[in-house]
Amino acid sequence: MRSIMVLNAKGGSGKSTLSINLASYYASCGYRVMLVDFDPQHSSLDWLKQRPVGKPPILSIDGSSGAVRLPRNIDYVIYDTPAAVRGKELAALIRKAESIIIPVLPSPIDMRAATGFIQEVLSNNKISRKETRVALVANRCKENTNIYHLLEDYLKKVRKAPFISVLRETQNYNHSAERGLGIFELPSYMISRDLEQWGPIISWLESRRSQPIRRK
Ligand SMILES: Nc1ncnc2c1ncn2[C@@H]1O[C@H](COP(=O)(O)OP(=O)(O)OP(=O)(O)O)[C@@H](O)[C@H]1O
Ligand SMILES: [Mg+2]
Repeated sequence: MRSIMVLNAKGGSGKSTLSINLASYYASCGYRVMLVDFDPQHSSLDWLKQRPVGKPPILSIDGSSGAVRLPRNIDYVIYDTPAAVRGKELAALIRKAESIIIPVLPSPIDMRAATGFIQEVLSNNKISRKETRVALVANRCKENTNIYHLLEDYLKKVRKAPFISVLRETQNYNHSAERGLGIFELPSYMISRDLEQWGPIISWLESRRSQPIRRK
């Protein structure tokens, strides 16, 4: 079972958006997918309620209301997480995942908040021992804006966590989410640019670079 977590203490950075799109991507590939929502806001669980009958199924657990017991035979577990997690709560979340994606928005406030948060994540023992791997994604980007270039420069400079992709700002995320779908389930002519941008995320998740170094 692969376990993937989307994490950023900053609210609105795209955690639920990335989580539901990862879940629907792997479900569309035919895998058994579990979406665990640790956020009491339940954005991911609410999204799943809208999912049309007949679409590849996604299992779910409300992780905000107690211990999570994963059933057997799950291929991918995707963890959506709440905003404002730091300290012990953050360390407890990190322990659950093999691979963590941190989405960051192109805004001065988000970039400043990300600096301390990324430092805290990277100083976690499990992460420094590479038992949990971390990657950074720029989200809601508009090319040709100054702030986007600043975000790109900033993420490239983070040592110890690769900057793997840039997701553009597009209504495709909203149009699909309101219908319980992921963008991968929209007509292909609408999503060719988005598919290109998700390619490096999926490749990272398939590669050894996103998986724990297991010591004997
Ligand atoms: N790439 C994108 N393009 C357009 N809209 C986006 C994109 N990513 C996220 N959004 C929108 O931004 C808003 C916030 O995203 P989302 O809910 O995924 O963030 P979050 O980190 O889960 O927030 P919270 O911390 O409140 O849980 C949502 O309305 C979502 O549809
Ligand atoms: Mg959310």
